[in-house]
Amino acid sequence: MELTERTERLRRHADDLVSAYGSPLYAFFEDDLRANYGTLRDALDEQYPNSEVHFAVKANYNLGVLSVLRDAGCKAEAYARCELTATRRAGFDPEDVLLTGMNRAPEDIERALDWGVSHLLVDNATELEKILVAAEATETVPDMLIRGNPAMEVPTHPEVATATRESKFGLDIESGRAMAVARQAVESEFVSLAGVQLHVGSQIRGVEPYGVAGREMLGFAADVRDELGVEIDVLDLGGGFPVPYDEDVPDTETIVAHMAETIRETCAQYDLDEPRLFVEPGRRLVGNAGTFLGTVGVVKETPYADFAVLDGGTNAVSSYWPYPVYAVKDREPTRTYHVAGPLCYSGDVLSEDVPLPELGPGDLVAVDRIGAYSLGSASHTNAEPKPPVVLVRSDGGYDLLRKRESCDDVLGNDSIPEGLGDERQ
Ligand SMILES: Cc1ncc(COP(=O)(O)O)c(C=O)c1O
Repeated sequence: MELTERTERLRRHADDLVSAYGSPLYAFFEDDLRANYGTLRDALDEQYPNSEVHFAVKANYNLGVLSVLRDAGCKAEAYARCELTATRRAGFDPEDVLLTGMNRAPEDIERALDWGVSHLLVDNATELEKILVAAEATETVPDMLIRGNPAMEVPTHPEVATATRESKFGLDIESGRAMAVARQAVESEFVSLAGVQLHVGSQIRGVEPYGVAGREMLGFAADVRDELGVEIDVLDLGGGFPVPYDEDVPDTETIVAHMAETIRETCAQYDLDEPRLFVEPGRRLVGNAGTFLGTVGVVKETPYADFAVLDGGTNAVSSYWPYPVYAVKDREPTRTYHVAGPLCYSGDVLSEDVPLPELGPGDLVAVDRIGAYSLGSASHTNAEPKPPVVLVRSDGGYDLLRKRESCDDVLGNDSIPEGLGDERQ
């Protein structure tokens, strides 16, 4: 949906949302969640039907958001511990859950195996050791995917590039580390080597990295077959599907078509059976489904810029990506503002030089397409409680998906040393 359409849609709901749930808040749109998954599923059905979509729960682990995606037919990729719990509570079947993680607690691996998760990623040799111990203890034989790292170029922000030589993730292919772990898995009676995985990174702006990833991992799969006599069943190309924050990015269909073409060509080249394709998108399924809505409290003119100060800032939305920012009131932009939060540090600016209409206290401002990673990275800076999460349902109704935090939610786990308690409060 184009930004103008999104703005119109938000205008229809913004006042009602804020009067019902207060400001600031996060609004999520059920229509977007379903459409994002539907577009990807349709593209896969057309280009590569033997495939599964595992939503990367790290991108948004709100139980309501997860439940909508689960209801739409999506499966899940969960990092251990509370993400795993989130998938359970949101009603996913264990056989629809893929467990990732590069340093999981042994008890989390056991819990996942006891529950019956379908596949586990293996990022390093120590993780394989842990899985072997947990598999023996739980009397299961889990399917595992080896996470590779072919030391490739990844066109995105360095902090979210995960298949580069500098990255901590995956098993290096060239040095033989990936093959050594594959060999140990094949020789063990406690696991089954089901496939290979490569998550290139997040917000991947071109299609070619998926081609490189597919060729590298299928090349590795061919080596595994030749050296160990095992043909893999699953190729997992991870997530990374981008969101158009302020630039054109490849659409879902183009990415999927490129993946499908690469797999077909490379399998023909190595004489491999075409594997089941897994993808683990996070950002693309939820990014454009969420909007942060804040209220201007102060407009402050300084010799440097005019600041519109909202009631929430980088505590609620990291300023990492160039999210579209617009006013809810329907007026032409006449000025530019630095849109800032209220926190006590200078970096608490959400966006600079934003063209906006004349703003005053009480005006609503939207920070759009913040649905991925914002809830997880929201902080308690300045002891600010986190905003509520509201779902705008497809039928036009609202559901509160997470209530606004109180000071007790922020401070309630703290305790005061003995002798410094009551008398000072
Ligand atoms: C293993 C794995 N899969 C999938 C994802 C999702 O990436 P994105 O949200 O860019 O699709 C991540 C993100 O960090 C990841 O680490």
